[in-house]
Parts: sequence; C-alpha cells; structure tokens
Amino acid sequence: MDRPTLYITRLLPQPVLEAIPKDYRILAGTTDHSPTADELRRGFAEADAVICTLSDAIDASLLSEATRLKVIANYAVGYNNIDVPAATQRGVIVTNTPDVLTDATADLTWALLLGVARRLVEGDRWLRRGGWPGWSPTQLLGADISGKTLGIIGMGRIGQAVAKRASGFQMRVIYTGRHTVASPPDVTWVHQPLDAVLAQSDFLSLHVPLNTATHHLIGARELGLMKPTAFLINTSRGAVIDESALIAALETKSIGGAALDVYAQEPHVPTALTSLSNVVLLPHLGSATLETRVRMGLICLRNIAAVLEGRPAPNQVNRGVPQR
Ligand code: DGY
Repeated sequence: MDRPTLYITRLLPQPVLEAIPKDYRILAGTTDHSPTADELRRGFAEADAVICTLSDAIDASLLSEATRLKVIANYAVGYNNIDVPAATQRGVIVTNTPDVLTDATADLTWALLLGVARRLVEGDRWLRRGGWPGWSPTQLLGADISGKTLGIIGMGRIGQAVAKRASGFQMRVIYTGRHTVASPPDVTWVHQPLDAVLAQSDFLSLHVPLNTATHHLIGARELGLMKPTAFLINTSRGAVIDESALIAALETKSIGGAALDVYAQEPHVPTALTSLSNVVLLPHLGSATLETRVRMGLICLRNIAAVLEGRPAPNQVNRGVPQR
C-alpha cells in the first residue's frame, strides 16, 4: 500500500502525536476545535484510517464518501457517535478504547458523588464570593456517605470499579445489569431488578452504554421511584437520562441532587440545570487525566496499525466486517 493517510479529527496529547508511525501521512487540524461538517467530509474522503472523538457524528452519508477508509479508531470507550452498522456494511472496522479509562472514570464518579453529597462546589463558590462568616453548626449541611447504599446501573468494567471503591466507605452495593458479577472477597454486591435499585439507593450511579435500550432509561417514572434524599450521578452518556424529567425532579426536590459529567446535547447544558444549587456539573471529564488520554491514543494507534498491516484489531467493536 502507498503511504497510509491518517485523519485525526481533534488535537491529541503530544505523546500520542509523537507515537504516530513516521510513514503515515497525517491530516489534522492544528487548533483544537470540533471539525466542521466540511472538514470531516474532506478528512474522511482522503483517509485510510481515522481517529475521531465522541463528539464527531459519523453517519452513513459521511461513510459513503470514505472510499479508502479501512478503520475508525474512536478515541473513547463509548461509540454511540458512530453508525456502526453502516461502517460494517462498508467494510470499515470500528475500534474503541476499553479498560484504560476505567479507573479514571470510576475516580471521577467518586469525585462527583463526594462533591454533591458534601456540597463542595457550593462551599467553594461561597468562599470565593466572600462573605463567609466563619464556622456554624448549620452551614451547608450535606449527607453522610459511609454506610449508605450505592446503586449501580450497568455493572461492566466501570460500574465494578466504582463498586470496588465503595468498600472504603463501608457501603452496601446493589446493582442491576444484564449479568450477575462476582463480588470481591469480604463484600457482597447484590443483583436486583432496576426498580428495586432505584427505590433503595442513597446514591445511584449510571454506567451503561447509550443505545436504543438505554436511551432515557432514567425518566420521570424512574426518578419518581427514588428516595427524596437520593443523589443521581451520571458519567455515562447524557441521553441515558431524560434531562427534562431530571430538571423537574431537581426543581421539585423529589430527589436530593444530581452530579453530572455528561449531557444529552453536548456541549449544550440546559440553563435550568446551571441555575440549580443541588447539582454539580462537569464538562465531560470522565477520562480526562493525561496518563489516561495518552493510553487511549496509543490504543487507537495500535488498532490502526493492526488493520493497516492486515492483522486483527485488538479492540474491534463490529464483527462480521466483509473483506474488501
Ligand atoms: C468514553 O470514552 O466514552 C468517555 O466518555 C470519554 O471520556
């Protein structure tokens, strides 16, 4: 094959750029902005391989113009931004970045859980605004975490990593998911139906991929089953929650609060959310550590090299890709 062309839709951390094989021709923007539809189309039309991100919508029409394309390495574990059946039909391999971001995402889930329960952001804002009068027995009272019940929806790699961290807080862990999983020694994770997890959890954390079965999995009915003191934490995908129903539940205080890293229409965050004090909001930082983002990039490069060299891609998500 001629020198392969690699199109990178976003600026990646420097160590990843330095690891790109020297014989690749690189097409990439020099500034960090989301590619326009035209930029995406031009990149896909020329590329043998693409590294794209969760904010790039890769649909059938874009793929129809990508006549040289052999592999899309999605720089994320979730790949709901890609029309995978369309890629499969065109013989394009799609890969993702599992495992390497499990700990970073589980850590951030805990940062959110602790932050919303102990009102960290409200406290920080108050100090910076000035006017803190000093310690008081009734100031910014939050909720205990230790000994409470943590509910996990989706007990895959990240769900389990979040559950493991709960041992340090002596929490009871209940979960719902397609399969039962083995609990670590000395603790028991209890598999339950969704409604039971919703009703019993003091903290409810979402770890499912976004697909047709999980779109709006948490809506008005599900929020209505939660305790009025419970907190909802989401580091999965925004559209797993019906955002309007969540806003209504937060405004009427039918749940205690929410801590969100992801939104249905990123980068749009509903104003109704930003004006509420019982929510903590982050700008999709789940995997955002330097080490993790480098590992994610290296996995993308490993998958691309495999496909271009005719070897199986280690993290292929679409099976049955017809040979071209
Ligand atoms: C993923 O990989 O799906 C994460 O959301 C990226 O931070």
